[in-house]
Amino acid sequence: MSNYIILGAQWGDEGKGKIVDMLSSRMDVVVRFHGGANAGHTLVVNGDKTVLHLVPSGIMSKNCMNVIGNGCAVDPCLLAEEIETIRKAGVEVNAGNFMISRNAHIVTPVHKFLDRISGGMIGTTGRGIGPCYADKAARTGIRMEEITGGNLEGRYRELFEKHEYAINSSAIANEFSFELSFKKFERDAGTLREYVKDAAETIYSVSRAGGNILFEGAQGAFLDIDSGTYPFVTSSNTTIGGAYTGSGVYLDFGKRIAIVKAYATRVGNGPFPTESNDETGARLREAGHEYGATTGRPRRCGWIDLKMLKLSFIMNGFNYIALTKVDCLGIFDKILAAVDYDGEGFPRYLEFEGWKTDISGVTKFKELPANCRKYIDFIEEYMGVPVGLVSVGPDRNQTIVKEPLWKD
Ligand code: GDP
Ligand code: IMO
Ligand code: MG
Repeated sequence: MSNYIILGAQWGDEGKGKIVDMLSSRMDVVVRFHGGANAGHTLVVNGDKTVLHLVPSGIMSKNCMNVIGNGCAVDPCLLAEEIETIRKAGVEVNAGNFMISRNAHIVTPVHKFLDRISGGMIGTTGRGIGPCYADKAARTGIRMEEITGGNLEGRYRELFEKHEYAINSSAIANEFSFELSFKKFERDAGTLREYVKDAAETIYSVSRAGGNILFEGAQGAFLDIDSGTYPFVTSSNTTIGGAYTGSGVYLDFGKRIAIVKAYATRVGNGPFPTESNDETGARLREAGHEYGATTGRPRRCGWIDLKMLKLSFIMNGFNYIALTKVDCLGIFDKILAAVDYDGEGFPRYLEFEGWKTDISGVTKFKELPANCRKYIDFIEEYMGVPVGLVSVGPDRNQTIVKEPLWKD
């Protein structure tokens, strides 16, 4: 029995989905424990791309139960659509491989509307996340259990009335009403009834029976509501503590896996010390196709910030690194990595020689160009944690295993 946790170590979009998908063939359960459809996790299997927002990234693997834990914010409308899309692509989604915790909160159309009229300063994804978690904390939220025999209409009306003043005061109030929003919401919520279960009980019993469990984080450490770059953060705990509160189960994670992008990106507003607004940023964006998987927004790009990354390792106790998108650096003559800040808070960089080669077909670490290995070795040494996986392309197979996570 082994338990693994995968977390974004930066600002999200590090490539978590790809690595979860790759590891999930060995897993009995994959658990999402926080966040909602603000996440966009991309899987590529034999060239076919799937973007998941709410469904855990173990869904492509046979015999793997995919759990949406109680810490998540579930939008029934988007989830119903997502399930349809996945099914059309030939992937099974049924009560045998997918479940949602009764205690997970529902993102309602009211929450999405409130996010539209208030999320601009942060640059949110517009998926209703902040307003949903605000109602959760205010104890006025609606949980998934309401779908199975509860009073969804009554609870939705109460929620609508609570927020009616804000809705009616907005410049786009005419686009929203109880009647306009409830019918579809109710219909979509109804399609999820069979998946609503006691998820903590399932995770616990699989664990007791000796199964392998993988927790899939969303977003990244610096978007954590408590430890991130507040207020430019999301509204859940993206760091390891969220795994416990967001699943309702204590597990000892033998491998705490940091997904680290070989450079840095951020979507939305907020501090980003190594952001490059010049040609370098544009070249990184093009090389890494850095456009949001959820909103399509161009991601802000810059060099990796190792000094900042150390903080995320402190928050999460990482003991294994999956370094992603290393192939995207193959166009640069020089590669920079921030290792400190000067007195005014500007990053101090170390410069590495580029390798100017396409490494996307390389399958063994020792076959990588020497300059590429030097860059990876430096990251490993600076962080004091082994780089066990090196991702050199979006496909599941484009992954170099430097330190296996298990013995075959
Ligand atoms: P997540 O939110 O952390 O799951 O990451 P996203 O899916 O939002 O963004 C990562 C993007 O990079 C996706 O388009 C992936 O297909 C792609 N990707 C992941 N790993 C690699 C890699 O090693 N190389 C390249 N070129 N693309 C990658
Ligand atoms: P994955 O799981 C990158 C960012 C938004 C915004 C801030 C708050 O794909 O890595 P929210 O909608 O959560 O209230 O927005 O957080 N954000 C993400 N950025 N990847 C994500 O998820 C994100 N989820 C939210 O851009 O700045
Ligand atoms: Mg993403």
